[in-house]
Amino acid sequence: MDSHNQLFSLSSLSLVLLLLSGHMELQLVEGRWQRHEKNYSPKMLFVFGDSYVDTGNTRMTDQPGSWKNPYGLTFPGKPAGRFSNGRVLTDYIAEYLGLKSPAPYKFRKLMQQKLENGMNFAYGGTGVFDTFSQNPNMTIQIDFFNQLIKENVYTTSDLYDSVAYVSVSGNDYAFYSIRNGSFEGFPAFIGSVVSQTVTNLVRIQRLGVRKIVVGGLHPTGCVPASTASYSYQQCNSTFNDLALLHNNLLNQAVTKLNRQSKDNSTFVVVDLYDSFMSVLNHPSTNNIKEPFKPCCVGVGREYNCGSVENNVNKYTVCESPTSAFFWDLLHPSQAGWHAVYNKLQKMSALRQLRY
Ligand SMILES: *[C@@H]1O[C@H](CO)[C@@H](O)[C@H](O)[C@H]1NC(C)=O
Ligand SMILES: *[C@@H]1O[C@H](CO)[C@@H](O)[C@H](O)[C@H]1NC(C)=O
Ligand SMILES: *[C@@H]1O[C@H](CO)[C@@H](O)[C@H](O)[C@H]1NC(C)=O
Ligand SMILES: *[C@@H]1O[C@H](CO)[C@@H](O)[C@H](O)[C@H]1NC(C)=O
Repeated sequence: MDSHNQLFSLSSLSLVLLLLSGHMELQLVEGRWQRHEKNYSPKMLFVFGDSYVDTGNTRMTDQPGSWKNPYGLTFPGKPAGRFSNGRVLTDYIAEYLGLKSPAPYKFRKLMQQKLENGMNFAYGGTGVFDTFSQNPNMTIQIDFFNQLIKENVYTTSDLYDSVAYVSVSGNDYAFYSIRNGSFEGFPAFIGSVVSQTVTNLVRIQRLGVRKIVVGGLHPTGCVPASTASYSYQQCNSTFNDLALLHNNLLNQAVTKLNRQSKDNSTFVVVDLYDSFMSVLNHPSTNNIKEPFKPCCVGVGREYNCGSVENNVNKYTVCESPTSAFFWDLLHPSQAGWHAVYNKLQKMSALRQLRY
């Protein structure tokens, strides 16, 4: 073997060893191997939050709910725990990362083979604080995650190669306004929701997750629950202003967190406000015919999508769920989430996740 070949095989060997070690890769630059931080996509997704991302954790007995007809009608074809007729944001974020949608925490024992995609700890109805829901708040959801790490279900290296998505979609605010009623205390309360969110983000980072994405608040004044009194014609600007205040505080807090972190893009905010708005303002370019009117509605004010009384359905489903942005009074349809996802892909925030 001449010395040139020997050198080559040594280089190949170290190339293999370095590649096996994970985080580095070699590139041949002007005839010399150089080590580079490997440009790889995440291996796992961990999800925390509420019904915008829950894929099956809420109880099957909740009535009406994500486990009852007509939820899941479009995907997977029957009720399966998603608060939509089909896919929700989690499914699209997973797709973006090239992963399968992570298994709901509730099924971790049944779906051992699926643990490799990460896990979804989100429960519908919950907030960063306790709400009207009996489901575990975000602090408890992170406790579940911490417990699995202690049990070595996920290793340090798994966590380093993973992304967390944190959804805070306003259940804290819904609960606050029902309990309190006054708008006066709202700005201060928004401050405490954001600061509890920041506490949660930092906790997830300290557990070892490399990238942590948090959803900004969507335009809460545009969901059908807010627009019903305007016959689904226009958004409630009071609620939208509160959502913008939440987002301003969240953006400031996340900018500060990144300045304090070794990697200045550890924390990422995805702008659900602008992505919802741009679809709602230009529905037809997104194949949406009904921007504000929900596809599934209760018959009369006392019933919801999914209500049943004496074996009679007390709700109606629109003819074409694929052209409605909203599925029920609070949640986008699969078509709605898909359109939002298309917008998000064009924004820079998501691109930072494929590192
Ligand atoms: C979360 O829930 C637990 C159990 O109900 C409660 O003790 C805790 O105070 C809650 N955390 C927050 C931040 O509200
Ligand atoms: C309701 O808001 C008022 C005004 O800020 C505040 O003083 C009060 O403590 C709040 N009540 C509850 C139950 O949060
Ligand atoms: C938005 O809804 C709230 C609660 O129903 C109401 O008090 C407020 O006046 C509405 N805002 C606007 C701009 O209509
Ligand atoms: C983050 O750090 C990189 C490289 O160190 C730098 O180029 C970039 O401008 C920084 N971004 C911000 C928002 O500070």
